[in-house]
Amino acid sequence: MFIRRLISSKMSSQALFNTKILKVKPESIKFSPTSVFDGSLPVISDPGTKQALLEAAQIIRDTDETVAFPTETVYGLGGSSLNDQSVRNIYKAKNRPSDNPLISHISSIDQLNRKIYSETGLDSSDILKNIPPSYHNLIEKLWPGPLTILLPVPPSNIHTLSKLTTADQPTFAVRIPSDPVARALIALSDTPIAAPSANASTRPSPTLASHVYHDLQGKIPLILDGGACKVGVESTVVDGLCTPPLLLRPGGFTYEDIVTIGGPFWKDCKVENMKTIKANEKVRTPGMKYKHYAPSAKVVLLQPTKDDDALEKQKAFRDIFRRETVEIPNLQKIAVLTTKYLDGISPAVLDDRKKYELLVKTLGQNGEEIQANLFAALREVDEEDKVDLIFVEGIPEEDEGLAVMNRLRKAAANNCIDF
Ligand code: TXA
Ligand code: MG
Repeated sequence: MFIRRLISSKMSSQALFNTKILKVKPESIKFSPTSVFDGSLPVISDPGTKQALLEAAQIIRDTDETVAFPTETVYGLGGSSLNDQSVRNIYKAKNRPSDNPLISHISSIDQLNRKIYSETGLDSSDILKNIPPSYHNLIEKLWPGPLTILLPVPPSNIHTLSKLTTADQPTFAVRIPSDPVARALIALSDTPIAAPSANASTRPSPTLASHVYHDLQGKIPLILDGGACKVGVESTVVDGLCTPPLLLRPGGFTYEDIVTIGGPFWKDCKVENMKTIKANEKVRTPGMKYKHYAPSAKVVLLQPTKDDDALEKQKAFRDIFRRETVEIPNLQKIAVLTTKYLDGISPAVLDDRKKYELLVKTLGQNGEEIQANLFAALREVDEEDKVDLIFVEGIPEEDEGLAVMNRLRKAAANNCIDF
């Protein structure tokens, strides 16, 4: 297929493509249980879905261009991990700093062996030979799914992975997504796909095709629209190549999942502490040092401290609200995203003189719901409601709370208040 660039790629501020959106039906794609290991192809019963996937797969396999696609976590912007120019085009479309490495997405362990380590014809007893034993429990139970592991880059005589995906690290990040659209795209292109989240750099990650379109329209040729992402935050990134092992980014699987499922080696798993990382330092997960997940509006994060009754908490918030709003000139519209104590709080309690337009929206009733709604809610109040200030009621940092608060702290750029 011929993808027509609209104008010279040097004029990067203008539209390069007529970005096309193709709807796909994830429920029409079926993988066999053994496909995670042997790489057998999925059966796709809906003809439109099959056609769209073949079109996207051809872009990945045969061109230097990129395609946005749904995963179970967030939408990804994919290009071939094996091709420098595809990887450059990913960084360019997102305006992402090139020292922040990318995750390679594979559809099976067979594909990892063939396409990244250049080993074909391995028999079943050797199929895990390129994955250190420290990861075996985790990948056997959590792949396909939102778990990313670090592996050593293949020796230099094996020229497969683009060096641009690893940003000069001795390791590369890899995962098998569970979303059938993502996995089918990778399987049909038979190409490992480098894919960061499909947002413009610094913006909240996209969990709907419309979020991708908002940020990247004109910059990419195609978006596959498979509906809303179920998990809502990115994959959990772990490093099992060091002792003790590290949780580099909390995500779709919780710290508790990793420790209980990983086996004895993961019992002492440490959580990488972002507060110790300085701006000019080379960090284990470079993504951590950049501005991230930030709406245009200022975000103030309420960090939970102790439990109290709802009325007391609401009074405490009213004081915070008044203190925070007084300092900002020209405030007109304010959103409050609630999780527990502030659910159903009346705007009149916060602003009895009706100086501002106030929107109160709940993020959800439990960790999973809050996680799934988080990015969409931040985008909705920012991009559609166009509020000037967003208060978010945080949750305790356990289970899904660790990933949720990790994203919210960055969205708030450290405007965090104990609550
Ligand atoms: O769920 C996800 O992981 C999504 C979907 C699209 O799969 N992808 C995603 O990619 O979140 P991205 O690029 O936004 O985040 C990748 C994270 C970054 O924090 C990056 O620094 C880290 O993984 N990473 C990638 N390669 C690494 C490496 N070799 N060593 C340490 N960290 C690495
Ligand atoms: Mg991202």
